[in-house]
Amino acid sequence: MNEGSEAKEELRRGLEGVLAAETRIGYVNGSDGKLFYRGYEINSLVEQSNYEEVSYLLLYGHLPKRGEYEEYVKRLREEMPLPDEVLSLIKNIGGRTHPMSALRTVISYLSVLDSMESDSSTKNQERIGISLIARMPSIVGAIHRVYSGKEIIKPDPELGYASNFFYMSTGARPDPVESKIMDTALIIHADHGMNASTFSALVTISTMADMYSAITSAIGTLKGPLHGGANERALKMIQSVGRPENAEKVLKVMTDKGERVMGFGHRVYKVYDPRAKILKRYAEYFAERKGNETFKTAQIIEELMINKYGERGIFPNVDFYSGMIYDAMGFRTEIFTPIFATGRISGWVARALEYSTENRLFRPKALYVGEKGPRKYIPIQDRD
Ligand SMILES: CC(C)(COP(=O)(O)OP(=O)(O)OC[C@H]1O[C@@H](n2cnc3c(N)ncnc32)[C@H](O)[C@@H]1OP(=O)(O)O)[C@@H](O)C(=O)NCCC(=O)NCCS
Repeated sequence: MNEGSEAKEELRRGLEGVLAAETRIGYVNGSDGKLFYRGYEINSLVEQSNYEEVSYLLLYGHLPKRGEYEEYVKRLREEMPLPDEVLSLIKNIGGRTHPMSALRTVISYLSVLDSMESDSSTKNQERIGISLIARMPSIVGAIHRVYSGKEIIKPDPELGYASNFFYMSTGARPDPVESKIMDTALIIHADHGMNASTFSALVTISTMADMYSAITSAIGTLKGPLHGGANERALKMIQSVGRPENAEKVLKVMTDKGERVMGFGHRVYKVYDPRAKILKRYAEYFAERKGNETFKTAQIIEELMINKYGERGIFPNVDFYSGMIYDAMGFRTEIFTPIFATGRISGWVARALEYSTENRLFRPKALYVGEKGPRKYIPIQDRD
């Protein structure tokens, strides 16, 4: 079989619409704007559940009974504190690189401390996955602190996952509303179909590499501005527009130049992203509490974008309002994508474990459009 020298099959750039795996974990209904985890609609989980429970649900397929829940939470709590060596690495990296690069490096480094890394049994890879889920808030929190020139804060065993993450990142214990908003942000980012970073994790695990490698791949992929990096850029864009009355003019300049407006559009959703709907309510809550103009400007940008592009299926996505909320809760802009990663870690781990139980090495083809050859080799001294 030749490697794609003739286009007998349709070329699907970016594998768009190609079915490449089966999953029972999550489902995105792009035409109705609905998102399900294991059959539960995202809104009902946000209203009634918490991140620990959702994480368990993604991994094991059912909501935990009380005993299962307590055991899972205990395990997360025990794994949360970071080894001194990792804290030193985070301090050493300091503010020299983007927090997503720091996060990628730290996750990869954790494998150095794990002598069982390459035992590819599902049990062992599940163990690694759960320890990464537990450690993610501590790592991102520590990166945030060091990046901001502040002391690292150890987890508080009395706090839940989302509240601990807030505390280790900002240095303040969240009030009940902040705690709920943090928890919601993590839940709505926990899983989202075969997105680029999840696919990266699956490609890596399909080679029978370990969970550290799979999550490192996923983090590298999430970093890009077309994926996780959009939240940071969306807030910067809204802030650069400034006052609400500037929005029309600035947006016209951007769209006339053919620039993509960050926080809008989605490969799957062609209606309003259900996650953006949830976050918009919280952005409004902070706008009322803190009285800033950013939310007003964002609303005008949303209106203008929907008027211009709504018919083409371009609406606000999860990244449009998330940055505004994180900003209001005291997170630096550069940490927005690592917050996304902190939520998504459960989805990455769950899907990598699921895929590895019926593993098939990913190996698509590329259509060769280069010189057919054979070309004559010319020695270096004879080349013009
Ligand atoms: C996410 C994204 C890559 C998905 O795009 P997609 O479904 O693959 O759509 P395409 O890239 O094929 O774009 C289709 C058309 O819509 C336009 N479009 C898509 N998103 C746009 C945006 N945010 N701003 C302006 N135009 C946009 C494209 O320019 C293209 O126009 P054309 O047909 O005239 O060339 C895209 O919407 C985007 O770049 N958004 C901004 C980044 C972002 O917010 N990412 C976070 C996603 S959760």
